[in-house]
Amino acid sequence: MKHELLIDQLEQRHSLSSEGYEQLISRRTPEVAAELARRARVECERVYGDAVYTRGLIEFTNYCKNNCLYCGIRRGNASCRRYRLTHEQIMACVEEGYDLGFRTFVLQGGEDSETTDEWLCDIISAIKGAHPDCAVTLSVGERSTESYRMLRKAGADRYLLRHETANREHYRKLHPRSMSYENRMRCLRDLRAAGFTVGVGFMVGSPFQTSADLAADLKFIEDFSPEMCGIGPYVPHHATPFAQFPGGTVELTCFLLSLIRLIKPTILLPATTALGTIDAAGREKGILAGANVVMPNLSPADVRVDYELYDNKVHAGDVAAECKEDLEARMESIGRRLVVDRGDPK
Ligand code: 5AD
Repeated sequence: MKHELLIDQLEQRHSLSSEGYEQLISRRTPEVAAELARRARVECERVYGDAVYTRGLIEFTNYCKNNCLYCGIRRGNASCRRYRLTHEQIMACVEEGYDLGFRTFVLQGGEDSETTDEWLCDIISAIKGAHPDCAVTLSVGERSTESYRMLRKAGADRYLLRHETANREHYRKLHPRSMSYENRMRCLRDLRAAGFTVGVGFMVGSPFQTSADLAADLKFIEDFSPEMCGIGPYVPHHATPFAQFPGGTVELTCFLLSLIRLIKPTILLPATTALGTIDAAGREKGILAGANVVMPNLSPADVRVDYELYDNKVHAGDVAAECKEDLEARMESIGRRLVVDRGDPK
């Protein structure tokens, strides 16, 4: 089928066959990408207007028990300087962010055994107690069914857990044997059942990834219909087994952002830090391809460099305020408005 027809079909039915996606991806041209981005932008503006939502990201621990082959904070990376923020330090980040206008806080961390349910529930209650008008998003990896229920009960609203790849075999190539695609999917189902607003996601251009794998990711997004989806280019980290693999591109990432926007027009879709890392204008390009969320970093400046999932991660500004101002200016330069409310899905 011609590309134009495939895009028409996607726009109308919010669905394509796996072969349709694969064809669009593997035979894309700059012209097709531009047309796709244009339609994705129209859809995004229809739902969200000129608003770009912002979330305050707090990377509170880089201890991790997992050993994902691509990730810079993997257990096996002995050169990673580990840190863990205290309850008080996290609350200080929240207060600073709140004063700047942030109304969503994302608590992200490695799978740290010290991040117990009790400790997490305590910090969630503290944030929600101090600021009932804020949304709390968690991004702390795979946990038990019961744990997810408790975190939700404590008041957490949203949960990000990238599925990483929707192909079981590919999943095995990216992760050690102690991890499984099945458990990842179990977690996502449990999160949904617990009542979270759920986010999935994957890296673009990860080692061994094929167009068929990306088509499977898009089919998965169709089927699971997550409220949020985080995608960014794979960026090699020097101290991982995948250090020598090439990174993903801005171009393919933007193409996928546009496809995802057309699959689910209401989806919350961040222009990620990874995109801003491999291209100084990456986040602007992501927004222009259909993304509608940015996540400036509110972590204390001295630990920010240690949350190094990949090499050369951008650290705009030393203080949260500068980070926000930087993004504000970037969004204004492309005719968008940075909005600091809760930014719930429509
Ligand atoms: N490049 C890009 N993204 C990465 N992540 C982990 N390592 C890398 C890397 N080298 C992403 C994973 C994970 C999220 C927190 O960061 O998709 O889910």
